[in-house]
Amino acid sequence: METTNPATAYSGKLAVLFEGTGDSLLSQQLAERLAVPFKQASESGLENYPFYLCWREGGLKLLDKELLKKGGLSVDVEPRNGEQRSWPAPKIDALAQALGRKTQTVVDATTGWGQDSLHIFRMGYQLLCIERSPIMAELLADGFNRLAALDWMQRLNLQPPTLLSGNAIELLATLATPPDCIYLDPMFPPKRKKSALPKKSMLVLRDLLGDDHDKEQLFAAAMAATGKRVVVKSPDYAEPLGGKPSDSFHGKLLRYDVYLKN
Ligand SMILES: C[S@@+](CC[C@H](N)C(=O)[O-])C[C@H]1O[C@@H](n2cnc3c(N)ncnc32)[C@H](O)[C@@H]1O
Repeated sequence: METTNPATAYSGKLAVLFEGTGDSLLSQQLAERLAVPFKQASESGLENYPFYLCWREGGLKLLDKELLKKGGLSVDVEPRNGEQRSWPAPKIDALAQALGRKTQTVVDATTGWGQDSLHIFRMGYQLLCIERSPIMAELLADGFNRLAALDWMQRLNLQPPTLLSGNAIELLATLATPPDCIYLDPMFPPKRKKSALPKKSMLVLRDLLGDDHDKEQLFAAAMAATGKRVVVKSPDYAEPLGGKPSDSFHGKLLRYDVYLKN
């Protein structure tokens, strides 16, 4: 089983960068939690680390070499293009169809940048999020704090989804109540001949974490822990993760495979 010990996981790969504004203690504590170096922007040798975490423009950002000077990737808490801005948003797209008409409770076991999770949350499902990369979990925690502060969240008295940091293969077995649906979007190896350029955030995620080689184990854990169904998001070229699905819903260059529990 993969270990998530940050002290060894990020050696030489990631540091926390403090740029001189805001509370340096927060950055130091973040570096301690992840067991990575703490660097000041004035120091030399910043180019030695491929990735940094840094508070910039009101949010925690992941920087690669290209983004070191400005910008950064963070959990985007704004609705997607074309998504209705009311809450709950209508459950009409391929993802909602795959989650199922009677589904109320969903566990996203591979939360990543939280984009699917936040869409699921905005459609009004009761959602629990799991993420095993401590770096992504820090970025998600910051994103969910920013979500909680949004006007519409406060007006409707909504709480952001609960986030568990750890390996879903273990955590799913500890759920007190089986959810209606467990949602999986693990990292698949890229197609050799690319048909569409993946988003920068997904490219960086792959560089940082690599492929998820224990997808089959995760699928088995999800089938054991779900109350009713497991939904797997796959690129359209990938074989179905759990064999022939009960149903499949197609999006742009992707599929949602549905596995019903007997
Ligand atoms: C392709 S990304 C998910 C992207 C996400 N659906 C989104 O909308 O941003 C896969 C994520 O799942 C996480 N992951 C993979 N296997 C996991 C496991 N067994 N437990 C928890 N997280 C896992 C990885 O660390 C990575 O962040």
